[in-house]
Amino acid sequence: MGIPNWPISGPRERELLEEVLASDRWGGYHPIVTRFEQQFAAFQHCRFGLAVMNGTVTLEMALEVLGIGEGDEVIVPAISFISTATAVSRARATPVFVDIEADTFNIDPQRVREAIGPKTRAIIPVHFGGPMANMDALMGIAGEHGIPIIEDAAHAHGSEWNGRRAGSFGSFGSFSFQNGKVMTAGEGGILLSNDETLIDRAREILDIGRRKGEGWFFHYTLGTNYRITALQCAVLIAQLERLPEQNCLRVRNVGTIREALMDMPGLHFQRVPEAARVHTNYLLLGWVDGDRGAFHRHLTAGGFPCTPFYPHTLYENPLYKERHNCRVMPCPNAEARITDAFWIPHRALLGDDIETEALASAIRTAAAA
Ligand SMILES: Cc1ncc(COP(=O)(O)O)c(C=O)c1O
Repeated sequence: MGIPNWPISGPRERELLEEVLASDRWGGYHPIVTRFEQQFAAFQHCRFGLAVMNGTVTLEMALEVLGIGEGDEVIVPAISFISTATAVSRARATPVFVDIEADTFNIDPQRVREAIGPKTRAIIPVHFGGPMANMDALMGIAGEHGIPIIEDAAHAHGSEWNGRRAGSFGSFGSFSFQNGKVMTAGEGGILLSNDETLIDRAREILDIGRRKGEGWFFHYTLGTNYRITALQCAVLIAQLERLPEQNCLRVRNVGTIREALMDMPGLHFQRVPEAARVHTNYLLLGWVDGDRGAFHRHLTAGGFPCTPFYPHTLYENPLYKERHNCRVMPCPNAEARITDAFWIPHRALLGDDIETEALASAIRTAAAA
């Protein structure tokens, strides 16, 4: 099968890399870094961007800027990559694991409301797989309680909620450019915000306490070095230029697959609310009523990439299993999806019509297994 490899690069990456290589600044101080920050922030409908080493430290920085620490609680979904929770724990705060909606895979606003207590200091929704979490409901709850939101948008490059893009709702939006993401430099991340003061404070942390326009050896706050390199930003500019077309192709192919499988009993795909209709497809997410192991084996034996979801909820990870320094709300939906869900990575959604029809037909056969 001709499933495309990932990452994809071309002459544009090479051209921009040459521009950096010909300069004397390959690190975080080349103007291409600011160029990328501005381009990506504008793409996500945000005013400010701060490119960073990865999409884990972006979350840690956001929490630090918001002053979250020991004794504070931060609400996170029970289903995500571990960084969403470890960022909270590394801030010495307590992650509170909250259930997802069974069909959207995104944090359930009603369950968020139930989890809020006197120590709650932030909410981190994850736009899981690409379609955004219910930002109307979450912003409403956060507003009522005066709690900031940090959007973990590691899956949501180009995703929208009612026409407004991921990362532009919360105090911060956090993105990852790790190797498997829909745009990548192997590693990388960016923090977005519409609040210049917040971004400036994050920049001080990232740049070892330096301040804009001040001297190289003048350090005003206790920071560290989380700078991204110019080489990464060169690649990311080229990746961003290609993203809209790739997002369109993925949308078209997912439409083909879902339509072809609409009548397939026992097979369900992630529900995408109307407000989240425009989104990237980082993962094609679904679940099966039957034997997920057999489903997975059939697909992969046919040469199609498929992952039988996470092996556990975040709170069943060895780190949190003993319930040290965390709080767990009832999460029946997350626990159900652990047993029956699957994902197909976005590279499989970049094929031509023949490859896409072959993928749809392989999913049908696997679901019947
Ligand atoms: C939801 C989510 N948040 C955060 C991260 C962390 O990003 P990074 O790998 O760039 O540190 C990832 C994945 O890598 C992720 O999937």
